[in-house]
This record gives sequence, C-alpha cells and structure tokens, in this order.
Amino acid sequence: MKFLRMVDLDLKDKRVLVRVDFNVPFQDGRITEDTRIRAALPGVKHALAKGARLMLVSHLGRPTEGKFEEAESLAPVAKHLSRLLGVDVPLIHDWIGAGSSSNRFDPMTVQPGKVVMLENCRFNVGEKKDDEVLSKKIAALCDIYVNDAFGTAHRAEATTHGVARFAPVACAGPLLAAELDALGKALAHPARPLVAIVAGSKVSTKLTILAELATKVDQLIVGGGIANTFLLAAGSRIGKSLAEHDLTGEASKVMATLMAKGGGIPLPIDVVCAKEFSATAKAETKAIRDVAPDDLILDIGPQSAAALAKIVEQAGTVVWNGPVGVFEFDAFGHGTETLAHAIADSKAYSIAGGGDTLAAIAKYGVTDRISYISTGGGAFLEFLEGKTLPAVAALEARAER
Ligand code: 3PG
Repeated sequence: MKFLRMVDLDLKDKRVLVRVDFNVPFQDGRITEDTRIRAALPGVKHALAKGARLMLVSHLGRPTEGKFEEAESLAPVAKHLSRLLGVDVPLIHDWIGAGSSSNRFDPMTVQPGKVVMLENCRFNVGEKKDDEVLSKKIAALCDIYVNDAFGTAHRAEATTHGVARFAPVACAGPLLAAELDALGKALAHPARPLVAIVAGSKVSTKLTILAELATKVDQLIVGGGIANTFLLAAGSRIGKSLAEHDLTGEASKVMATLMAKGGGIPLPIDVVCAKEFSATAKAETKAIRDVAPDDLILDIGPQSAAALAKIVEQAGTVVWNGPVGVFEFDAFGHGTETLAHAIADSKAYSIAGGGDTLAAIAKYGVTDRISYISTGGGAFLEFLEGKTLPAVAALEARAER
C-alpha cells in the first residue's frame, strides 16, 4: 500500500490533526478497556516530540448529530489520555466554528509540542455523511492530516475520509500503518492451517465475511448467535436461543464451501444453557440433543471447547474475532476462556481484534501471548474480507496526486 507516513514528515510548528479511534467501552462513566488509547500513544508522542501543534479527533459511540450528549463526550477520554501522557490535554468543545467568531477555536493557540483533544466529531452535522463542506472546514484547521484510526478505517466519514481529500497533506499514522502491515503480511501468505474464529450475536452482519472467509481459511470456528444459526441449519435443537432463522440457507452454503475444500465448521456437541439471560442464571451443561425448548444456549460445553482447543493447537495461523459465549457472566465464560488459553499456548501466529475479543483476552490474562492485537472491530473484519477500507483508499489517492 502506498501512502505518506507521518514519521517521514517534518511536523515542527505545524498544525497537525490526527484522527484517532478512541471509541472505547464505558461502564458507569468509566473506561473499561483502553487498548485503543494506548495503541495510539506512539503516534501522539512522536508528534509531540517533533514539535507539532497537535489536535486529536475521534468519535465516541453513535450520538445524534447536532446534539451534545454528556454520555458521549470525550471528556473522560481526554482525562485518561492526560494521565497516560503525563501532560495536560484540554478538550475543545466548539472546534468547528458553530459558535460566534470570538470564541472560535484557533489551532495556532495550541503551542508547538502541546496537544488538545477535539470533542466527539460525531456531534458535528455532516460527519457520518462525509459532508464536503464539513470536510473542508476540518481540513482548514490543519497543515497535516494524519489518519491513525485503524478501528474506523472502514467508515467513509468527514474525519476519516473527506478531510483526507482536502487537507494540504494527508498521511498515515504509525498505528494505521502497523495494522495494515501486520494484517496484510499474516493474510497474504499465512502459515497453514489457517483457522478463523468468528463469533458474535448476528449472522446477518457477518454473513458476507463468513462466505468470503470460507474460500480462504481451512477451518472456520463460529460461536455465539452465529453458531446457533449454523446449528439450526444442521438440524440441531437450540431452544429459544438467539439465532437468525431466515439465514439458515446461507449458513448451509458457507458450510458446503468449506466441506468441498476438505475443511469444515466444527459445531458444538455440548453447550451451557440457562433459562434466562442473566449473570445469576443457573448454568446447565448438556448435550446439544438435550437442549429443551425453553433453553438459552449461552456458552459452548467443555467437550466442544476441548475440540476447538485441539484445532487451534494444530493451526499455523489463527484469526479471532468474537467470544464464543457470554463471557461477561462468569458461569458462561469457560468456552471463551479455554479458547483464549489454547490460542495463547498454540505455536500459531495469532491475530485478535474487536472490542469484546480484547475484553475477553484481558479478562483471561493472555494479552501478551497473542501475536498481534488489532484495534479494529468492524475494520478488522472488513480487512479480512478483502474489502477496500475507504480511509486507506483516501490516503492512497493522495499519494498518487
Ligand atoms: C468500532 O468500534 O468498531 C469503531 O470505532 C467504529 O465505530 P462505529 O461502528 O460506530 O462506526
């Protein structure tokens, strides 16, 4: 991939706008997982050390444009970043000039070697639609636009795409470049067998990727609601578990693709069920044929987990997105825990991505034993699917001009 890289540019005294992805999970107003913020630190530190007038811009959640919501303010993120960097990180509210000219934000007020955080870009009207007028306004704030937000690279929005068209210079930050390098290398010539684990609640959002992955991988492991849809397609009982009943035909096609190549999709033979979706629900392990009509499958059982662990142990490359059970509830986390340890213990080159996956990896203490942790969720999946990421395409287009 050909694009300019921030590390090759002179940043001194320049107004440098870095798009980061600080869309991190929160619980009761606190950040529960900060991998994405930490992963962006090398780029931030580099720009500060080189004397940039640094502005960081990110989205958080999916607020209604034009409407400020305290719950989606980046204030706690700016505070957290300030602690990690050991410097003050003021949060700029009206940075796009909705207010009067007297209080309009002027990037030249950011001194060289200092950093500010711009408030959630999705509060700006036109952000999601990649509005050209908004993109030009954002571009006018900087001398150099840097995209260091791999997690949002699959979105064509004003701060990820439009601004790259109009900024005087547009380049990739070190995180974006490292993600593309690592994932590209691992998937171009993977050590085989290549095993992909794709789990989560909905097949519909991941169906195209499953179909595409089936043509590339040797084994596909599915989990969560996705596995339930495959179980249904295979004629198994799933009780009242989450599944997409109208997509069983598509699931069968994905299975057929893999079987034709001599691979397969190992489906659970035992599961952990409950009668209700709650942390305190009684967990019952049973064979899949014993699942009752009022059962909810919330995890895979120990025999199934052991079978998956064996596949992972023999893999050359493992790509992981999504936990195989409701690991947030301890009684339904054993399947994901077994899988996490199997991946960590395996000699395979392992890549994991997605918010829930990172949380599971952290919970089971294997973060340091995964070969590469991607900050992308949807972007990671779209990359695996072989799709062009619009934010990357915009940088490549600038490199050609
Ligand atoms: C993510 O969490 O996957 C990215 O930050 C993108 O967020 P979005 O799905 O709200 O665009």
